[in-house]
Amino acid sequence: MLGPGARRRAARPVVDPLEPTAFAEAAALLARAFRDNPLNVAVIGAGASARRRERCNAVVMRNLLRVAAGSGVLLGVRYAGVLAGGLVAAPPYGFPFPAPGVGAQLRALLVQGLRVAARWREAFERLQRRRPIEAHAYLGLLGVEPSLQRRGVGAAALEAWLARVDADGLPAYLETDREENLRFYGRVGFGIVGEIEVLGARVWCMRRPPAMAVSVAAALR
Ligand SMILES: CC(C)(COP(=O)(O)OP(=O)(O)OC[C@H]1O[C@@H](n2cnc3c(N)ncnc32)[C@H](O)[C@@H]1OP(=O)(O)O)[C@@H](O)C(=O)NCCC(=O)NCCS
Repeated sequence: MLGPGARRRAARPVVDPLEPTAFAEAAALLARAFRDNPLNVAVIGAGASARRRERCNAVVMRNLLRVAAGSGVLLGVRYAGVLAGGLVAAPPYGFPFPAPGVGAQLRALLVQGLRVAARWREAFERLQRRRPIEAHAYLGLLGVEPSLQRRGVGAAALEAWLARVDADGLPAYLETDREENLRFYGRVGFGIVGEIEVLGARVWCMRRPPAMAVSVAAALR
């Protein structure tokens, strides 16, 4: 009989739509996934504890999942029976998602405080100004439970989303604040189209051409 370690090694990520019943669990895992990212630390403050960054993130993630549910693509990845990853993406001209209700905004403000909320807005607006005007699918968030990274969970979510993007013949766009993610996204066809500094954190903007353009280029080689 397989022990838990062997079962985990043998596990395969399973991607499904993320249902509202899993939003609380997904928000908590996304909060942990992004807790140590440079932009997260820059916005919430280098002096803030990891626990505080997680709490601030969780309330924002929960609001984001709720508003994204209307028009966005929300995917959850299960690995060895647990929710291990989440992806949130928007269709062309679908981002930013609508603002959360007043109650949800107030709750976020109470948890984060005015300074952090203002810095999130500043970071968000800075990134928003750099986004392309061409119609594109936008990857808003992709996060994997820290203890379950490097097992193919993120790649499984990305692949499932890109299959839809390719079926629609769309270019895709994202930003990332971790240099090690450049290779991860580069493998599936994203290239760097810009590099900016946001509140002291380095952020790379990446674009993936539509599938049609990729296959034509390959055919001409
Ligand atoms: C970026 C992120 C989503 C990637 O998710 P992940 O599940 O760790 O990714 P994968 O396991 O699919 O792939 C990551 C790497 O592990 C490798 N890998 C995959 N399965 C593996 C395995 N079983 N053993 C060892 N390595 C493995 C992949 O080849 C990949 O290598 P690469 O970085 O050279 O491309 C995740 O690290 C994360 O949540 N980071 C923090 C939040 C973040 O930065 N999100 C992205 C914002 S744009």
